[in-house]
Amino acid sequence: MTPRTPTTLAVLGGGQLGRMLGLAARPLGLDVRFLDPKADACAAAIGPLVVGALDDVEAIDRVAAGADVVTFEWGGVPAASARHAARHAPVRPGDRALEVSQDRVTEKLAFRSVGIPTADFADAATLDELRRGLATVGVPAVVKTRRGGYDGKGQVVVRDLDDAEHAWSIVGGVPSIVEAWVPFDRELSIVVARALDGEVRAWPLAENQHEGGILRRTTAPAPDASSALQTHAEALATALLHELDYVGVMCIELFDVGGELLANELAPRVHNSGHWTIDAAVTSQFENHVRAVCGLPLGATDATGVAVMINCLGSVPSPPSVLRTDGVHLHDYAKDPAPKRKVGHVTVVRSSYEQARAVADEVERVVRAAEQPPGGEA
Ligand SMILES: Nc1ncnc2c1ncn2[C@@H]1O[C@H](COP(=O)(O)OP(=O)(O)O)[C@@H](O)[C@H]1O
Ligand SMILES: [Mg+2]
Repeated sequence: MTPRTPTTLAVLGGGQLGRMLGLAARPLGLDVRFLDPKADACAAAIGPLVVGALDDVEAIDRVAAGADVVTFEWGGVPAASARHAARHAPVRPGDRALEVSQDRVTEKLAFRSVGIPTADFADAATLDELRRGLATVGVPAVVKTRRGGYDGKGQVVVRDLDDAEHAWSIVGGVPSIVEAWVPFDRELSIVVARALDGEVRAWPLAENQHEGGILRRTTAPAPDASSALQTHAEALATALLHELDYVGVMCIELFDVGGELLANELAPRVHNSGHWTIDAAVTSQFENHVRAVCGLPLGATDATGVAVMINCLGSVPSPPSVLRTDGVHLHDYAKDPAPKRKVGHVTVVRSSYEQARAVADEVERVVRAAEQPPGGEA
């Protein structure tokens, strides 16, 4: 007997990722509802919103009851919440993916367990262990809190073994990880989807530029990425997906060091470095995530052009100021402006890197100008 195709999807989290998941789910005939602590969560424009904390079991009951499938758009959703929601409907990807990715040590061990190289690292639960870890791993090193860090928060670069105490205070004296500094040539990411039947599809590698720990620009397919590099990255990601029996979209952030790939971290969800797929891939990461968690076949992941995605941090430029040029797509998440907040993105799609970069450089100027406070100096 063929299982009934889901018609109602519950999403834990109601930010822009939930909003874009919802926008992809509606054409497939799905009703989508969201759980978010904020009454003005931007996904609420797409479907009903339950306002409540992501660890509030009653709120989870309200959003998950009657849903056919539950998924999440935030990697910080407590694993216990995923387990609670599973009383109502299958939760995909499951609690294990959350547990593994929420702790930088278990995350690195998961990479290593399937043969994915990472930077050398050491566990540091105390200042003494941090000192020992720095001595083992060497300097420069990066000290990061094991849990709760994002957008470069909760981490500090250590250049001198004598700086251990200072670093310990900066990370707040909580259990941390010491990572060897990776002298990378560039940062890449691979976004992959795994279906319920185990089929895996990967989008082309993307190249990412961060600014102050926040993603500013993604170029995809990554320039000068050989098919061997692509195949290698896909094989690494596939091994992890199978090991976790993962269903849905995952992103792995990678360091490219002279053609060697080291995994940095994983996101058990759709990812900012995959936003370009909305406008420049046969099937977007959002659509394939919805297809995967609903037990549907995955769509093709080929790129349809060269894409450059630029994040709008703090505020979104006026639509006419960017849409004048052909091949430019604006995504405004309808969030309130706030400094450094991800409030939208612009994707430029062209047939060559040269053209895409030229248009993207101009778009980036407009995006940055819109981010400046009127009359401000920053
Ligand atoms: N071991 C490392 N070596 C060199 N650069 C690093 C290292 N770890 C992190 N970084 C830099 O800091 C950025 C943020 O670190 P990341 O581990 O991805 O944390 P977050 O969860 O904040 O995204 C990375 O994108 C990279 O630019
Ligand atoms: Mg990161």
